[in-house]
Amino acid sequence: MKILVITGSPRKNGNSSTLAEHFIRGAKEAGHEIVRFDAAFKKVHPCIACNKCGMNGECVFKDDFEFVRKHIADAGMVVFATPMYYFGISAQIKAVIDRFYAINGLIHVPKKAALLMTYADNSRRKEKAITDHYEVLLDYLGWSDAGRVIAPGVWPVGAVNRTKYPEQAYRLGKSL
Ligand SMILES: Cc1cc2nc3c(=O)[nH]c(=O)nc-3n(C[C@H](O)[C@H](O)[C@H](O)COP(=O)(O)O)c2cc1C
Repeated sequence: MKILVITGSPRKNGNSSTLAEHFIRGAKEAGHEIVRFDAAFKKVHPCIACNKCGMNGECVFKDDFEFVRKHIADAGMVVFATPMYYFGISAQIKAVIDRFYAINGLIHVPKKAALLMTYADNSRRKEKAITDHYEVLLDYLGWSDAGRVIAPGVWPVGAVNRTKYPEQAYRLGKSL
């Protein structure tokens, strides 16, 4: 299956990116095709609600979102890899999700999804805003959750390497 991995951190080799890399290694070993979109290093203009797309058409912005549009249609799975920023997902990955508006008609088809997320705090309660968002998004799109790897207690780049979570991300990819 084709898997579109969308990352949201501006930190090269950051913690959520590390989870994405381990997930990708596992998924590739399991024979899947990976397409990766590092939102923080691309140009994705925020949706301006002009509605020119009619929720299923061309967007007024011809930017790097075109890559997502091209690859999401036949992807059997979409993976979101994000740091927690003020208890939500990063603005970079949110901008990509908001641009789903223009392909809304295209993506309401069954797909698998996964969430890879890292944050500094140690309180699991803080994850709720992000996991709730992920769940209602999947519910709306008709996608099914294939797994989540959520790594608390990781702040500096590399911190996640000293935890069990990269291995969990690898095993999630490998299990598909
Ligand atoms: C702008 C910003 C906001 C953050 N907000 C939170 C937060 O609300 N809760 C938290 O536990 N950590 C927060 N963090 C810490 C990051 O979530 C944490 O360092 C994470 O591992 C970063 O992932 P990355 O290495 O993939 O960028 C924040 C970091 C930044 C830069």
